[in-house]
Amino acid sequence: MVFFIHLFLLCVTARFIHVHAQIQTGYISIDCGSQENFNYVDLDTGISYTSDGSFVNTGINKNISSEYAYPNNLYLPQPLSDLRSFPQGDKNCYTLRPNGGKSSLNLIRATFMYGNYDGENKLPEFDLYLGVHLWLSVKFKNSSDVVTTEIISVALEDTFSVCLVNVGLGVPFISGLELRPLDGSIYKTDTKKFVPLVLFERFDIGYTNGSGRYSSDVYDRIWSPYNSPSWDSLRTSIDIDTSGDGYRAPNEVMQTGSTPKNGTESLEFSWSVSDPKARFYIYLYFADLVVLRRNQTREFNVSWNEFQLFGSVRPRAYYASTFYNLRPLVGNEHNISIKKSGSANVPPILNAIEIYRVLESSELATFSRDVDAVENIRTTYKINRNWVGDPCGPKNYSWEGIICNYTNSNPPRIIFMNLSASDLTGQIAASIANLSSLETLDLSNNSLTGPIPDFLEKLSLLKLLDLRGNQLSGYIPKSLLERSRTGLLKLSVDSRNLCDSGSCKNKSKKKILIPIIASLLSLLVVLLPLIIFWRIKRKQKSSKESSNEEVRSIESNNKQFTYAEVANMTNNFQTAIGKGGFGSVYLGTLKNGKQVAVKLLSESSSQGYNEFQNEAELLMRVHHRNLASFVGYSHDNNRMALVYEYMANGNLKSYISDRNIHPLS
Ligand SMILES: *[C@@H]1O[C@H](CO)[C@@H](O)[C@H](O)[C@H]1NC(C)=O
Ligand SMILES: *[C@@H]1O[C@H](CO)[C@@H](O)[C@H](O)[C@H]1NC(C)=O
Ligand SMILES: *[C@@H]1O[C@H](CO)[C@@H](O)[C@H](O)[C@H]1NC(C)=O
Ligand SMILES: *[C@@H]1O[C@H](CO)[C@@H](O)[C@H](O)[C@H]1NC(C)=O
Ligand SMILES: *[C@@H]1O[C@H](CO)[C@@H](O)[C@H](O)[C@H]1NC(C)=O
Ligand SMILES: *[C@@H]1O[C@H](CO)[C@@H](O)[C@H](O)[C@H]1NC(C)=O
Ligand SMILES: *[C@@H]1O[C@H](CO)[C@@H](O)[C@H](O)[C@H]1NC(C)=O
Ligand SMILES: *[C@@H]1O[C@H](CO)[C@@H](O)[C@H](O)[C@H]1NC(C)=O
Ligand SMILES: *[C@@H]1O[C@H](CO)[C@@H](O)[C@H](O)[C@H]1NC(C)=O
Ligand SMILES: *[C@@H]1O[C@H](CO)[C@@H](O)[C@H](O)[C@H]1NC(C)=O
Ligand SMILES: *[C@@H]1O[C@H](CO)[C@@H](O)[C@H](O)[C@H]1NC(C)=O
Ligand SMILES: *[C@@H]1O[C@H](CO)[C@@H](O)[C@H](O)[C@H]1NC(C)=O
Repeated sequence: MVFFIHLFLLCVTARFIHVHAQIQTGYISIDCGSQENFNYVDLDTGISYTSDGSFVNTGINKNISSEYAYPNNLYLPQPLSDLRSFPQGDKNCYTLRPNGGKSSLNLIRATFMYGNYDGENKLPEFDLYLGVHLWLSVKFKNSSDVVTTEIISVALEDTFSVCLVNVGLGVPFISGLELRPLDGSIYKTDTKKFVPLVLFERFDIGYTNGSGRYSSDVYDRIWSPYNSPSWDSLRTSIDIDTSGDGYRAPNEVMQTGSTPKNGTESLEFSWSVSDPKARFYIYLYFADLVVLRRNQTREFNVSWNEFQLFGSVRPRAYYASTFYNLRPLVGNEHNISIKKSGSANVPPILNAIEIYRVLESSELATFSRDVDAVENIRTTYKINRNWVGDPCGPKNYSWEGIICNYTNSNPPRIIFMNLSASDLTGQIAASIANLSSLETLDLSNNSLTGPIPDFLEKLSLLKLLDLRGNQLSGYIPKSLLERSRTGLLKLSVDSRNLCDSGSCKNKSKKKILIPIIASLLSLLVVLLPLIIFWRIKRKQKSSKESSNEEVRSIESNNKQFTYAEVANMTNNFQTAIGKGGFGSVYLGTLKNGKQVAVKLLSESSSQGYNEFQNEAELLMRVHHRNLASFVGYSHDNNRMALVYEYMANGNLKSYISDRNIHPLS
């Protein structure tokens, strides 16, 4: 006789009749929505519940409507009388920290009952996630329907994130959340990496009285009573030894079992799901509940869809053993048959069964270094946003201000972070440099202080860096300037960041945008106003500084050329590319092939030698990407030349005055 579990599910009352007395080591039992700091022992189960304050930062506490509450509903478990709802935000998460830490195996149970808590009488639908994996789409049949779901999972990090996601079908809520540590050796799956298992069914076979939540179950599993009309119940009051393996089904569960009414038949049960790729693991619990006579043998084989899973099983009297499939059972139809083997003259027995479905998810958690970095950023700046759960996942529900790159086989990477106007204070956090895939970083309109750190140079993919509206000071790291100049990076900073250490403090507060211009500037036009500026400043200073010292510094840092070398590199001053206050500028080429601009002091220059030297000194002092870099000089028989980096694209004046050239942005 074939028996379909899904047709014969017994209605299980929610009332838990067994008092828990065990030490609840490592248990996390949250009565979601209960008053802050309200801890209590549930008299029905003996379990100590806490309020959700330390596990979640968002949501509001609600009570279910009195119609569904005690005393109108005498059997309502206390944790279900209130709930926490999440009207704000798409994703809200509880953070559970298992005692066993990373790699520990845990069972997590979430419970939901709507109870018309919002007075709208409208059943919401929402998604429940464990980390980035869709655990369950929560749906209700009616307001008093209690949805309970369990998952067994290894902690991949120190914490589990249990997240509720608003899918646009009503405000998510949760009534209860529990975590139970498990023995790491049980609920094995075939893959080296443990796959999360969602409870499909858990039956205490042969027992029909109420629901089973037993104090002797160290894992606090809830066993649903189950018996079939074609099965006989067996029962013993003798204690069952459950120490044989780590599964440790409670004594009460193992003390009952079933055998087929017709002794020649097998015990059969089946289930089906719509997904033909669904993968299942089953855990069968056997113990003989009678001591057989010498001439009696209880032996059976277990098969799944005609394929033998376990052969010649002989349960021992009052001793529990657990059998499970090493490879998943794949398909949408599953027929399990427990059939007496040839040598048996006593029918087969089954005491309990658990069926788990593998949580199928192609989502990957965010690249862990990105997670560490962004967690660090969150704590450093005490960021007041709903930054919970995985930063990138599930897809479409990344943290506010964060955008990720999702590639099929690799963990998502953070490529965009916008912390504009987020009350950030202090220095730019070093952990930002660990977000190595970052392409956009907007830290504008905060109160950041200190320098623009060199470590930002490590963000080699950065295309946009906005630091405006902060109190940053000092130099801009050279490579950032370099990349900005070549157009790889759009760099936005306040003008005070521009300056050289000496001239920094008194500069005007006017903000200018550096980028773009840089790559287009022509040497001559930039230099002129700077020199005038510098000379005014210089006049203001009591000229204490020794120019000799500065000349020495020129000499120590830059290459000196002979006049002959200068003539050689410019091919005898063949190509004039401009003319400045001191003389003409020629295009030249160094031995290494680098193009340079050579400015020759004209013999007719009214400004003369001293000014020429001033310019050289200035160039030594001022380094900026908007200024062409200084390559070297020549001071040979009073014929003087300055050698600069060559800037293509003409000069700035024509960009400003000539309307035919495309304008600067
Ligand atoms: C829920 O009910 C309890 C009393 O049963 C009350 O103390 C609490 O304030 C109520 N909570 C809310 C959010 O209404
Ligand atoms: C609500 O749904 C549950 C589960 O289907 C059912 O057992 C119960 O009878 C229903 N209650 C009402 C009041 O309809
Ligand atoms: C079920 O409960 C009733 C009353 O409490 C009891 O008489 C009966 O023996 C129980 N049956 C089983 C199988 O435990
Ligand atoms: C028991 O099952 C066998 C095989 O299916 C059948 O032949 C026999 O009639 C059944 N006995 C009873 C009492 O139903
Ligand atoms: C087993 O032995 C008992 C006596 O010990 C006898 O009554 C019974 O018929 C035997 N059963 C079988 C199946 O041989
Ligand atoms: C499972 O059993 C049912 C009923 O006997 C049968 O129709 C179905 O084909 C079986 N499925 C498989 C996969 O064996
Ligand atoms: C039961 O399993 C044993 C061991 O695998 C095998 O030898 C035997 O043929 C099986 N019996 C049946 C009826 O399938
Ligand atoms: C997630 O975003 C993708 C596009 O990025 C879209 O196609 C998909 O519908 C979104 N999913 C949900 C659940 O919003
Ligand atoms: C996302 O990552 C892939 C693979 O690393 C890369 O090819 C692609 O350019 C990235 N996309 C973006 C928008 O960064
Ligand atoms: C960052 O967010 C602010 C406002 O939230 C917005 O004005 C700005 O454009 C965003 N930055 C980027 C780079 O998208
Ligand atoms: C960056 O990541 C490395 C490797 O994970 C880590 O050792 C380092 O402490 C991180 N740096 C910061 C500033 O967080
Ligand atoms: C940042 O500040 C500027 C200037 O005060 C303002 O125009 C801009 O709207 C601000 N942006 C944000 C995102 O607050």
